[in-house]
Amino acid sequence: MTPTQNQTIIEVKTSPTPGSSYQVLVEDGLLTKAGSLIRQHPALQGSCVILSDDRVAPLYAQSLTNSLQNAGYAPKLITVPAGEKSKSMAILEEVCGQMVTAGLDRSSFLIALGGGVIGDLGGFAAAIYFRGIPLVQIPTTIVAQVDSSVGGKTGLNLPQGKNLVGSFHQPALVLADPLTLRSLPPREFTEGLAEMVKHAAIRDPAMLEQIPPAWTPNLAPIIARNIAIKAAIVTADEKETTGERALLNFGHTIGHAIENAAGYGKFLHGEAISLGLIVALQLSRQLAGLSAEDACAVQQTLQRLGLPLDLRPAPPPEALLASMRTDKKFSAGQIRFVLLRRLGDAFLSSSVTEPTLLEVLEQLRAD
Ligand SMILES: NC(=O)c1ccc[n+]([C@@H]2O[C@H](COP(=O)([O-])OP(=O)(O)OC[C@H]3O[C@@H](n4cnc5c(N)ncnc54)[C@H](O)[C@@H]3O)[C@@H](O)[C@H]2O)c1
Ligand SMILES: [Zn+2]
Repeated sequence: MTPTQNQTIIEVKTSPTPGSSYQVLVEDGLLTKAGSLIRQHPALQGSCVILSDDRVAPLYAQSLTNSLQNAGYAPKLITVPAGEKSKSMAILEEVCGQMVTAGLDRSSFLIALGGGVIGDLGGFAAAIYFRGIPLVQIPTTIVAQVDSSVGGKTGLNLPQGKNLVGSFHQPALVLADPLTLRSLPPREFTEGLAEMVKHAAIRDPAMLEQIPPAWTPNLAPIIARNIAIKAAIVTADEKETTGERALLNFGHTIGHAIENAAGYGKFLHGEAISLGLIVALQLSRQLAGLSAEDACAVQQTLQRLGLPLDLRPAPPPEALLASMRTDKKFSAGQIRFVLLRRLGDAFLSSSVTEPTLLEVLEQLRAD
């Protein structure tokens, strides 16, 4: 596909077939063109199902359905309850069952229309249905557009923890329509911006000043810029083996601990990440030579965007450490932390010890 005016196409290379790749298209109004774009893809010619949640479906499923029907498809809509609880084995079974009932076979494909929950659930369903059918991602949150729809990670939660089962299943096509972000509630919009700040800090410092605090027309360029950063990182390290992809965890070690220890729901993911970024910046100051000026630039951006900076409402340091010990990233008792030497220069460090971390957490709570 070649881009039309106002459209950006980001090519993401994948293995195992050399030269294989998928495209991420970014453009205002893409949803209404989805049918004809999907029709152009050779792997997307069979019957299809749209998976969405009960908040997104009433807003966008009809317009997507119309567009697909105009392109000769007869999509069935499967709707699950909105929220993280739908990333479960029980819901997965329900979705796969409905796909069988709808008559989907190995030549069919699944369209995930929604946020990261729908992308992860739909992606995993597509990965295992008939041993794998193609997936189209139509992400409708900032997190989903700039992060979860690209890179091929899919997964579900278990009662024991988040994202404990899953697989890599690369999408055949990703269609990001920034107009859909307009209906996000303000708190959900703001939390998504934390991932943009993360991308700016690790790869593109000039972007810090350009992140808008609320929905504005013409978000496509900044969405595309973020997708390009994620795409470059996942292309370099598709299956998280070289360490490159781990850089995307900047702010996430503490962020996840906060979400976990506070109980899911108290802090939205992006809010916890904002606090995680504050901690990672302070550790980078102490251990990696990050300048006060660089740390301040990130901090001021978080503040300007309305993301939280104050660690006092978060669980106490000991609770965060206890939660970190159960984290996947806490391998063999060693904390692997992403730190910054300078803005745009992130690296994976194993020099963060528990005492240093405790000290920094205490210090930030006292400030
Ligand atoms: N696979 C990956 O690489 C990856 C990366 C990051 C996050 N994730 C996962 O993504 C999930 C979080 O994603 P999320 O933040 O998008 O959450 P989400 O999918 O739960 O969406 C947040 C809320 O916004 C609603 N919503 C979605 N789009 C909307 C729109 N356009 N207008 C109005 N409301 C809308 C949803 O119904 C939901 O209630 C987590 O489960 C996380 O583990 C996965
Ligand atoms: Zn995140």
